[in-house]
Amino acid sequence: MASQRIPLVAGNWKMNFDHLEATYFVQQLAWKLRDIHFDYRHCEIALMPSFTSLRSVQVLVESDNLKVRYGAQAVSVTSQGAFTGDVSADMIAHLGCSYVIVGHSERRKYHPEDDANIVDQVRAVLAAGMQPILCVGESYEERRKGIELDFAVGQVHDVTRDLSDEEASRLIVAYEPVWAIGTGMVATPQSAQDAAKAIRDDLSATFGIHVGEAVRILYGGSVSSKNAEELIGEPDVDGFLIGGAALNVDELTRICQLTMNATV
Ligand code: 13P
Repeated sequence: MASQRIPLVAGNWKMNFDHLEATYFVQQLAWKLRDIHFDYRHCEIALMPSFTSLRSVQVLVESDNLKVRYGAQAVSVTSQGAFTGDVSADMIAHLGCSYVIVGHSERRKYHPEDDANIVDQVRAVLAAGMQPILCVGESYEERRKGIELDFAVGQVHDVTRDLSDEEASRLIVAYEPVWAIGTGMVATPQSAQDAAKAIRDDLSATFGIHVGEAVRILYGGSVSSKNAEELIGEPDVDGFLIGGAALNVDELTRICQLTMNATV
């Protein structure tokens, strides 16, 4: 973790927790972080609930003046109209969201989301004043062939190349190898670092070093309190996008603490 970038610990709750469970969790997390004197200036924390919980989380965060941020797991590429079931970037932004996950491998798999669609999602999120967390990462097959770095870099490159420097500097990238998601098989710190560095180098080559150095690159895939400290010790790993471990408040608190400790 390089000192200029503030690390981000983001919990992707996927399709878990209704709005009552979500608000209870956020309240508990805030208490536990207060108890350990968590310093949000050194580490940002964000939770990504389901759409149905966002309003409740917003009311809690605003009324209790909590420093936890939050965001959405998906977004429509269109701004309004006859798109049954879709939710626009402006609707999400009006709920006080800071982030939207874009291109998660589960969305790429279960929904018709290709690179062109993901480019439009990134643009929609940026235009609404939020930050996209762009997910990339190879499957087991690409890793077996030894092309994992080219694959992940190519995914970022294809989606971002037409952005302006200013837009690109507001991106967050999550390197999430598909084989590591929900499997308990975590990438080694060295391979997380290699991927993050390759992605950063490509962003620097496309947009300039100031952009490459500004963009936070997270690691995701079976992150837990057992492996977070080693991973965050790598210079180009700027935090985590966490699935399963973000459903357990003690485990998430511990990962936040380990991440913060790595910066101070
Ligand atoms: P797990 O942490 O459960 O492996 O999930 C990672 C993920 O998909 C976060 O977006």
